[in-house]
Amino acid sequence: MKIEKSKRIKDLPPYLFARIDQIKSEQIAQGREVIDLTIGDPDLPTPEGIISQMKEAVGEAKNHRYPPYAGILPLREAVAEWYWKRFQVKLNPETEVLILIGSKEGIAHLPLAFIDEGDYGLVPDPGYPVYKTSILFAGGIPYLMPLRKENNFLPDLSQIPQDIAQKTKLMFLNYPNNPTSAVSSKEFFETAVNFCQENQILLCHDAAYSEIYFDGYKPMSFLQVEGAKEVGIEFHSFSKTFNMTGWRLGFAVGNAEIIAGLGKIKTNIDSGVFSAVQEAGIVALKSNLGVTETLRKIYQERRDLLCSGLKKIGLNFKPPLATFYVWAEVPPGFTSLEFTAHLLNQTGVLATPGNGFGSFGEGFVRFSLTEATEKIKKAVDRMSKVLF
Ligand code: MLT
Repeated sequence: MKIEKSKRIKDLPPYLFARIDQIKSEQIAQGREVIDLTIGDPDLPTPEGIISQMKEAVGEAKNHRYPPYAGILPLREAVAEWYWKRFQVKLNPETEVLILIGSKEGIAHLPLAFIDEGDYGLVPDPGYPVYKTSILFAGGIPYLMPLRKENNFLPDLSQIPQDIAQKTKLMFLNYPNNPTSAVSSKEFFETAVNFCQENQILLCHDAAYSEIYFDGYKPMSFLQVEGAKEVGIEFHSFSKTFNMTGWRLGFAVGNAEIIAGLGKIKTNIDSGVFSAVQEAGIVALKSNLGVTETLRKIYQERRDLLCSGLKKIGLNFKPPLATFYVWAEVPPGFTSLEFTAHLLNQTGVLATPGNGFGSFGEGFVRFSLTEATEKIKKAVDRMSKVLF
């Protein structure tokens, strides 16, 4: 039988990090020691208190049945409490909080609730690949918003043509930003909220990196801006904040109608997150302060190490104020892909080529700080011996 793939996936390139996993496996199979500074997947273990809560919850029969579709209420309450403490944003846990199987899942499904065939979705470029794909999967048309160095990697919303804005249903934003590590000012969030209000666009802000910050900088929630809840929602993840990428737990908060739309899609697709994982999530949110402070110190040490190494080899970049990514310009004469291939061949250091995040990422490379400090030292040491 001839198996015919849908148009949706026929020409879709492999998911960026699936392709990188493949390259890594090939290198390891050839006997090379690879230092993987690609995906933002924290190497440190999930904190003990979260694990022990999970162990206890796993044995409870009530947790073996289907969880409520929107997530268990005590977790939604813990999310609302955390949002209030962290951002002074008030949320109704019943209607303004939705538990997700990781924020990636929510982002991927959201356009199905709001995009019809031919509608536009605004997507930052470079950006997390799921934004663009999710719009395509829903039959929409992604309109790319370039994030340029000269504009501090913020999109210039005044450059979006009026006829496109009129046909646009939603916009993705992400600050602190992946992959550029740029941060947003309150003014930019205000501009974005006004733009979305004027053009009747849903603003979907991905705040997965809000708790990884340095040097006295502290990211805000876009929901702190006046009028934000009228136009949008914010995505969050336990993955980066609590070293829980493998657990698959995230949430969306904000506008009740948008939350309900996403919730409706989800009731037809999945049956929620294992309640034991959600119970562990409550402990994570309630023990927030101690956990993330320790993590920030570790990432800061790694950031400083990597940045001083990259400086020595002459790369041009701005040390990140937030996220665990360093976004650097590739040396003259290289494309992003050529540089990452050269780096891998010469040093065994695997970094993500900037163009993997979109065409405006060409000319850049992203290094992740989610490898052991000793490995980052080794990467710096190896890179310092190579001429670029
Ligand atoms: C990244 O490395 O860009 C992210 O970790 C990918 C993800 O969160 O799925």
